[in-house]
Amino acid sequence: MTFSRRQFLIAGAAAATCPRIGFSRYETPPGPWLQRLTPAPAEVDLLGAGKATPVWAYNGSVPGPVYRLKLGQRVDTVLENRLNQPTTVHWHGMRVPNGMDGVPVLTQPPINPGGTFRYAFEARNPGTFWYHPHFQSAEQLDRGLHGVIVVEDEHPPQVDRDLVWLLDDWRLDPRGQIVEDFGDLHDVSHQGRIGNTATLNGRVPDTFELKKGERVRLRLLNAANAWIFGLEFKGHTPRVISLDGHAVAPTAPEDGRVVVGPAQRVDIILDGSGNPGDRFEVVDRYYPNRAFKLLDLVYSDTPLRSNVPPPLAALPAPRLSEPDLSNATRHEITFSGGAMGGMGSARFRGEETGIRQLARQGKVWAINGVVASRHDEPPIIQMRLGHSYIIDFINDTAFPHPVHLHGHAMKLLKTGDKELNRTVWRDTLLMAPRTRSTVAMVADNPGKWMLHCHIPEHQEAGMMAVVSVT
Ligand code: C2O
Ligand code: CU
Repeated sequence: MTFSRRQFLIAGAAAATCPRIGFSRYETPPGPWLQRLTPAPAEVDLLGAGKATPVWAYNGSVPGPVYRLKLGQRVDTVLENRLNQPTTVHWHGMRVPNGMDGVPVLTQPPINPGGTFRYAFEARNPGTFWYHPHFQSAEQLDRGLHGVIVVEDEHPPQVDRDLVWLLDDWRLDPRGQIVEDFGDLHDVSHQGRIGNTATLNGRVPDTFELKKGERVRLRLLNAANAWIFGLEFKGHTPRVISLDGHAVAPTAPEDGRVVVGPAQRVDIILDGSGNPGDRFEVVDRYYPNRAFKLLDLVYSDTPLRSNVPPPLAALPAPRLSEPDLSNATRHEITFSGGAMGGMGSARFRGEETGIRQLARQGKVWAINGVVASRHDEPPIIQMRLGHSYIIDFINDTAFPHPVHLHGHAMKLLKTGDKELNRTVWRDTLLMAPRTRSTVAMVADNPGKWMLHCHIPEHQEAGMMAVVSVT
């Protein structure tokens, strides 16, 4: 591809409007680099202060390259492992064939250092998805291995800019280096690894420029291990248009916060309702006593329009198999353990084991009374292909858990005691402590699928299970 001088000027001008955050690469069309994904040690400037932080990165950048795909487009990528430990890639939320799901041992052998694996599948649903390792996730995810997949809508809504906001948190020491206490038992038995530095698209953000009258689609994605983001856009009312990639009726977020749990995605429409020169804060206030300013929305001097465009119509309903509630089989899945969880014992490697002995081996969480020791545990539910299921998830612990099911989307029926008054599909359900949620789904993708807490500290300490569909 050759660039004319003019294209360079346009690219340069676009980059200049977003000086600190580097959004421009988030608008890059797919290029030949998609054919190869190379996780390797790298150095990035997370703080934007010219200080290098050693990380692990896909193709040298954090986040990794964006896959921007058309519906039905094929991904065909060879992963080449340049880490010093095995890895795999999981395509989170993409309903791929089981062999492409990237779960070590369960769906493929781990890719050893120096080894390769070819991932090939089609984009079956529009939406915002992501990719990340599924091997030693607590360390590999946290060191910076993750990237975004955008599958474009067939008829994309009219927006002026369509951007990814990948949120992450890091535990950095005063020199800006990652603190390497992965798997710390306090993190494992409490809320997981919480960082001290938040980044947006791999950089501590400063400002985000907006124009009066402009309409922006922001694809929020939380790649943190455990931090839950709850963003408030002061002076604005964003509309949520899609959750975990699947369209919802446009709605303002409850109590003004856009909540994004680990691994979840929330697409919002942000309208430039301010005036040239205005400044508004974007504040994260999920945790009331740990609220902080993420960045400032800054209005540029030149308006784009005198008014914001009329309200957006809903995106087309997701094309997912509709569960047949009258013929569904019901199951209960209970999450237990952790600090203040009161779990006395659980089954581990086939034997009922006391909590003290479990904790000595770093295992403190269970699903249906079983502490997983590996990715290929015997299935907790054997589903029939094409059959509908209703699942009651019970969080019997003192902590929130983002519960993720591979290969499928789950239709949310109830959270807590609240029936849902709109259609919501999720691949990752954020469950508050001591609550119950009910979902329905059709087992329409054959294979063995992981069901686990997406806080990798919890997952690796036993909070994972397998569901089979045959
Ligand atoms: Cu995003 Cu099993 O993972
Ligand atoms: Cu958890």
